[in-house]
Amino acid sequence: MYTQSMDTMGKDGDASPASAQPALRSAEDLQRQERFDARIDGGDFIEAKDWMPDDYRKTLLRQISQHAHSEIVGMLPEGNWVTRAPTLKRKAILLAKIQDEGGHGLYLYAAAETLGSSRDQLLDALHTGKAKYSSIFNYPTLTWADIGTIGWLVDGAAIMNQVPICRCSYAPYARAMIRVCREESFHQRQGYDSLLVMMQNGTAAQKAMVQDAVNRWWWPCLMMFGPHDADSTHSEQSMRWGIKRISNDDLRQKFVDATVQQAQVLGVTLPDPDLKWNEERQHFDFGTIAWDEFWRVVGGDGPCNSERLAMRVKAWDDGAWVRDAALAYAAKQHTEQQAA
Ligand SMILES: [Fe+2]
Ligand SMILES: [Fe+2]
Repeated sequence: MYTQSMDTMGKDGDASPASAQPALRSAEDLQRQERFDARIDGGDFIEAKDWMPDDYRKTLLRQISQHAHSEIVGMLPEGNWVTRAPTLKRKAILLAKIQDEGGHGLYLYAAAETLGSSRDQLLDALHTGKAKYSSIFNYPTLTWADIGTIGWLVDGAAIMNQVPICRCSYAPYARAMIRVCREESFHQRQGYDSLLVMMQNGTAAQKAMVQDAVNRWWWPCLMMFGPHDADSTHSEQSMRWGIKRISNDDLRQKFVDATVQQAQVLGVTLPDPDLKWNEERQHFDFGTIAWDEFWRVVGGDGPCNSERLAMRVKAWDDGAWVRDAALAYAAKQHTEQQAA
């Protein structure tokens, strides 16, 4: 799913801002840089084999790998509910959605690998806590309504974030996002449908459960768009490079505007007393985001950070025999082909 605050620094401050670019080394480099800038300005796509500045490569590698990590960590809170889905239909839908997220991780790791980092290096950064993933997955899934709410709001926010990345200047990332966005659309609809069934046909307790889930997820979802534009360290450079097309605040506003009516149809209240239509701006105004909470969760101190990371590392360790078997099989096939 889920690019979010992808312009927040890694723990080691791994992405140097453009201002820290080293001096260009030669006239040839200068020419390459000029050609690259002209292609970006002309709206051209950059392919893996094309020359690109180091900082462009690093920024993309950080963003795409954080995005890939978010896809596979995002499988964990939903995975908790596979055995507790209320019907066979809901279980099948949830399994399909979680499997999609694994697929999104695969496309994105493959796109990140085109920038020169190996899959093992990328996963090692995740498993050692060096790499970031979306802070939204550090919140717990307490009831079945959380699963519908994740589909509606979290995947809904992901779509808002990701549709503009289909036009990202780095072609392998843009191509991956086209397919991802189609699948995210299904994720959003299944979540909304699941909540609608409970709100229209459910008991009072089920309706209250939906409202409680929306109360808990609404604000963390608004945080998914990252810090305010003024506080967003890498946004400006990413916009100039055509990696980012719409600013954090504009995307957040689009999400709020699109979601208010959906909440009305659903019959839930969004937990923000300041949420109201502004005739002059032609947008909904909304309240102040608790940025201290956002930075705390990004920094590793959210409700489930350590649990998610431990689960992810366990899954990796438990899967070692599968990777070993696949490699042994591939080696055997290779030997047999050579002998034939
Ligand atoms: Fe999704
Ligand atoms: Fe996804």
